[in-house]
Amino acid sequence: MNNARQAVADLDGIRIAYDDHGSADHAATLFLHGFPLSASMWSGQLALADRHRLIIPDLRGHGQSAVTEGTVTMATMADDMAKLLDTLNIETVTVCGLSMGGYVAWEFWRRHRDRLAALILFDTRAVADTEEVRRGRQMMAAQVVSSGAEMAATSMLPKLMAKSTYEHRSSTVDAVRQMILATDPHGIAATQRGMSKRVDMTDSLSEIEVPTLVICGEEDSISPPDEMEGFANKMPNARFCRIEDAGHLAPLEQPASTNVFISDFLTNI
Ligand code: MLT
Repeated sequence: MNNARQAVADLDGIRIAYDDHGSADHAATLFLHGFPLSASMWSGQLALADRHRLIIPDLRGHGQSAVTEGTVTMATMADDMAKLLDTLNIETVTVCGLSMGGYVAWEFWRRHRDRLAALILFDTRAVADTEEVRRGRQMMAAQVVSSGAEMAATSMLPKLMAKSTYEHRSSTVDAVRQMILATDPHGIAATQRGMSKRVDMTDSLSEIEVPTLVICGEEDSISPPDEMEGFANKMPNARFCRIEDAGHLAPLEQPASTNVFISDFLTNI
């Protein structure tokens, strides 16, 4: 049964919106969206709620959650998530993060690892930014505040999905565009600054012992499959898989095939 509950938590004055699907009797998985999207990107995963509890927040600065200006680091977002779990009386979770959500998942491991049962990492990276990428983030942060979220949609949308998604699934492309346009420009800017400061995880990979599923869209040009397979191979308990006809947003582009991998993983941990 899918007992969907949309709610807002007040975490020390920061409003975090989240959906809580499935039975509280099942182990919980926390789904962390990519940048600059929202909880809606996981709509294709709601089918999993018949056998799993799914906690799906809008991360700070995104969707219906509070926007804080300046810099919002991945550590701040990970701490928000630990506080959200406190309010829900959930001790341990599987964290499933896509891209930026994956960066937050790494921080959750660094800061709250006693609460981490397992990891699912979609289309994300273990390395920190190069100086060039950092400069690009600073530039977008400045531009988006002066000209609005449209520029983020224009610059990001062509890179996010697979060729077949652009050609045959215009409703998916439009849904992604709408999510970006709905994101507060100050949220986009603060998150770009935060992502530019993220820690390089390469040297920590061998210490991450929780069961881990690493999934990459075969046409992901932002976090390419070979790079993801490379970091999965450095993790002692990780399995890597590719999703056909998907780019950087594999669970949104190919929900049915990604759900088979997620469900199989969650059932067997
Ligand atoms: C994302 O999809 O979350 C972004 O591509 C992450 C990033 O900008 O590094």
